Amino acid sequence: MDARSSTSAGFAAGTADTKPSPRDLQHLYAEATNLRVASEMKKYYKFFQIPGIGNLAGGLPHLQFFPYDTLEAKIAKPERWTPSPNKLEVVDSDSEDDEDDLVRIVDRVDAINFSSKVPTSYSASAPSDRTAPERIVVPKLAPQGFDPEQKIDLATALQYGGTEGYPPLRAWIRKFTRECLHPNVPYEGGPEVIMTVGSTDGLWKTLELFVDDWNPVRDDISTRPGLLCETFIYGNVLSQIAPKGMQAVEVQADSRGMIPYGPGSLEDVLDNWDLSKGRRPHMMYTVTIGHNPTGVVLSVERRKQIYEVCSRFDVIIVEDDPYWYMQFPSAAGKEAASRNLGKPKNPLVAPTINQAAGQRSSGSEFLDSLVPSFLSVDVDGRVVRLDTFSKTVAPGCRLGYVTAQPAIIERLTRITETCTQQPSGFVQSLISELLMGPLPAASSEKAVATKSKQVEPSSAGWQFDGWIRWLEGLRGEYERRMNIMCSILDEGSFQLKQGTPVRSVDADWGVITKTQLYSFDWPRGGMFIWVRMHFEAHPLWYARRANPADGIVDGPLLATSLMLFLTTKPYLVLISPGTMFSANENVRLKRGWAYVRLCFAAESDENNEDCSKRLVAGIQKFWKFKRVEELEDLLSSSSVAMEEAAEARDAGLMGNLGVWQGC
Ligand SMILES: Cc1ncc(COP(=O)(O)O)c(C=O)c1O
Repeated sequence: MDARSSTSAGFAAGTADTKPSPRDLQHLYAEATNLRVASEMKKYYKFFQIPGIGNLAGGLPHLQFFPYDTLEAKIAKPERWTPSPNKLEVVDSDSEDDEDDLVRIVDRVDAINFSSKVPTSYSASAPSDRTAPERIVVPKLAPQGFDPEQKIDLATALQYGGTEGYPPLRAWIRKFTRECLHPNVPYEGGPEVIMTVGSTDGLWKTLELFVDDWNPVRDDISTRPGLLCETFIYGNVLSQIAPKGMQAVEVQADSRGMIPYGPGSLEDVLDNWDLSKGRRPHMMYTVTIGHNPTGVVLSVERRKQIYEVCSRFDVIIVEDDPYWYMQFPSAAGKEAASRNLGKPKNPLVAPTINQAAGQRSSGSEFLDSLVPSFLSVDVDGRVVRLDTFSKTVAPGCRLGYVTAQPAIIERLTRITETCTQQPSGFVQSLISELLMGPLPAASSEKAVATKSKQVEPSSAGWQFDGWIRWLEGLRGEYERRMNIMCSILDEGSFQLKQGTPVRSVDADWGVITKTQLYSFDWPRGGMFIWVRMHFEAHPLWYARRANPADGIVDGPLLATSLMLFLTTKPYLVLISPGTMFSANENVRLKRGWAYVRLCFAAESDENNEDCSKRLVAGIQKFWKFKRVEELEDLLSSSSVAMEEAAEARDAGLMGNLGVWQGC
């Protein structure tokens, strides 16, 4: 696929004529959104493009005063990481339809992942070639005459302009989004994109667009806005909505994601909404792939059902999917094999592309195998999708983009004009160069010479194919880490104890008791394992505290004690407490303490395995606490323990399976 040759102007998504227009959703906007007008200043920018125009108007510093003559970087080849297979291979016995048939899992993942062999279709280069870096250079000034959507230089990237994004990057992303990521958006004309300073920024702007701030002193309760979300939610969102006076409205979820129909479901919450609690929510937030923190992937079927309810109750869907490409087809099979289940539960099902109905392939086997975005069923144009480079390139890029119907992107543009204006030009130009590569060689030679020694780029740019290959490789790496951590967790989830028989007739028999310490599903995507700790099976559960005034040893106390214990030697691991992700106080008090979130992305490969083993050993040991005094000692020495933990962290000895700064 050649990314550079075609620009946004030449591209139209799908069979536009037969599709309905997206609905006008202005009635859902915040009051301020309707008052926003285009920046006078920004309107002027188009005149700067007139060839030969003398600019005495704009407050734009001249490029000769930019202290950067070039930006140069060494980058990876897209083939650096080894992919994993796109599907779980299952072979049933005779009948295809018999649900109870024994399914044999063909374990190709091991065969590929644990050998140095790279599937030939992925790379012809030797492994050393795959890991060798290439070089990119952003010149100060590219030659005149190139389409602004093609040329990448510091003169444009470091200047004001491009609220929707740096033109070459935005055009690349727009085309990639419409052709490859979401080739089947069902409304006329397809979606638009605007670059953001990451998904956190994308969500902030989306809230600004749709939500009027609510003040308990000033405003009536019936106007209080609410955000529909799963019982457990990415914690940062709660911090984002709180200052707006918005409440998180819990919708029940199961191991397949948010529940559309039935008690506690989305439909139930909306249908039986009580106005004395606030305005009926007009916005939903969800992470549909590799949900943070639960690791769930929402199936196509569920997506359609949830969309149907949102459409009926006129709800905006905010789909925040930083982990979209990290779907793990092997998880269900490996989980079944590890637990002798015989048959995988909740396997990822690749979508069917109905070409007869005008649906299109992305052109990539990998992308076609992924469960598609809510955008693929967005007939109304009510989906606002947040993407980010944080997990595909690096969090410090602070770069992402929003995809939605054009009217929503237009309002987001107005909002952007008055706050961030545009993401950093340094980042946008470096990412553009990585993806698009240099201009054709002959023209580049004419690039204005800089004072620094000219360094020639060696990378031709990743283009669409390279970017997809990079995502595939990342998926493979994370999938392997996930499989390793889950296998280790499975091995240590029970405690076996040998006891003395109660009845004398059994005296010759050894009695083994088996206690389950925790349970979890192997995540079907993302970076996290969501573990339910069985504190109710701890020997000290509901024991009286040493000081009767302190009450009993309950779940929250055991949860805090476990966290502390794990940060002590020799375990030295950090985990995230489930309370951090509880949608509200009720969830926090009733259930949040029973969960922990483990991240298999933050540590190196070796540490990932080591930390998982230390974690399991620590949990096993914690379940051997028999006397309340042991727990009391641990709690009373918590300040010493915290100091030790800080020292271990500074010395690089603390394994981080938990909090990953803001994530
Ligand atoms: C669900 C979710 N959304 C957003 C973010 C933050 O994204 P960004 O770095 O693009 O702001 C994270 C980070 O972990 C996340 O898990």
